[in-house]
Amino acid sequence: DSQEQTEYTLRAQTGQTEIFDGVQTITYGYNGSFLGPMLQFEKGETVTINLINELDEDTTFHWHGLEVSGNNDGSPHNVLKPGEESTIEFEVTQEAATLWFHPHPKGQTSEQVYNGLAGLIYINDENSKNLGLPNDYGENDIPLIFQDKVFDDEKQLNYDAAANEDGTVGDTSLINGTLNPKLSVDKEKVRLRLLNGSNARNYTFKLNTDDDFVQVATDGGFLNEPVLMKELTLTPSERAEIIIDFSEIDSSEEIALIDEEGSTLLPFEVSNEIGEETNIPAEMNDFSVTEEEKNLPVTKEIELFGMMDMVTINGKKFDPERIDFTQEQGVTEVWEIYNKPDMMGGMIHPFHIHGAQFKIISRNGETPPENEKGWKDSISVAPDETVRIAIQFKDKGIYMFHCHILEHEDNGMMGQIKVE
Ligand code: C2O
Ligand code: CU
Ligand code: CU
Repeated sequence: DSQEQTEYTLRAQTGQTEIFDGVQTITYGYNGSFLGPMLQFEKGETVTINLINELDEDTTFHWHGLEVSGNNDGSPHNVLKPGEESTIEFEVTQEAATLWFHPHPKGQTSEQVYNGLAGLIYINDENSKNLGLPNDYGENDIPLIFQDKVFDDEKQLNYDAAANEDGTVGDTSLINGTLNPKLSVDKEKVRLRLLNGSNARNYTFKLNTDDDFVQVATDGGFLNEPVLMKELTLTPSERAEIIIDFSEIDSSEEIALIDEEGSTLLPFEVSNEIGEETNIPAEMNDFSVTEEEKNLPVTKEIELFGMMDMVTINGKKFDPERIDFTQEQGVTEVWEIYNKPDMMGGMIHPFHIHGAQFKIISRNGETPPENEKGWKDSISVAPDETVRIAIQFKDKGIYMFHCHILEHEDNGMMGQIKVE
């Protein structure tokens, strides 16, 4: 109900975390030494968040996937200097989804996220409560933040030594900041909320048994129907909710989430306990791309190009003083995003837009795959691929759009749209 009110305080801080036994690693976190608390919002409520920068450097608090006004979005324009605080307040207007938050200061996003500044946001609504999906937090509804890091000989994160202009890729995988995690589950359906929180790595998730799993949600909400998947790729900043059915799995079976190379990401320990009876309903949402939206002319063209520090959008690098596009509040427009290959062939750029959830109309002229027929705020765009999206902003302000390989973003692969 719209009378509800939630207040949070988030402190960006540094601290020490025992990632390796007996060793303290210096890390960044929100309200703690590494990563952040999970924020829970109800659709319709007013949320107040007190933001405090306890770091020795500038930061911002960006709400990735949240439909908020440009002033509250934590863009590079909303900087908090060391020691500064501010308070934002907004109404939650969008449907149930798994979103996240992270810093966005100009040129420093990649290092701050790498050091540990990232957290999850759950939005709940009537639909999410009534569907009957697994939703017992920590039991059969598990958040999983996937990241990769490089640790030096002292087991410290040394961003400058690890950094790569084309996206910093680590040799050590962490899930929720934990090395070699295991997940104990009962014999029941388990919902995993996956976030690719890495700076640059793409993850392809599969089961080592080669069994199917079910995808139920995209970045910004539930799919209309559950989609059976053998594997699922998430590029940086993309989320998905999947359900794995352990009810028929014997506790002696070795079952794990693996990546495309067959490396184990997350092994499961299945107990002999029978868990909760939950449902995966055949109908979960009423998402659609209308004929009208499909027939709209393309009014914004985005060309992604380059690698290393030569990355550009429409031939330009980010300039905080330059507005690249304008769009009217509440009006749907079609954007066409093209990834222009270079002499080396090019690379996937995960393209993200702030302040709105959008719909994929087509990929290279074809309807998108079933598991992308839902709300998105980040999409993978492969070399020479053209993706058309329909997007509407509910609020006003200046919003960023950029490649979510964080080093590309910091190298200027970002533009701004003013919604008025
Ligand atoms: Cu994850 Cu500009 O954001
Ligand atoms: Cu964002
Ligand atoms: Cu890129």
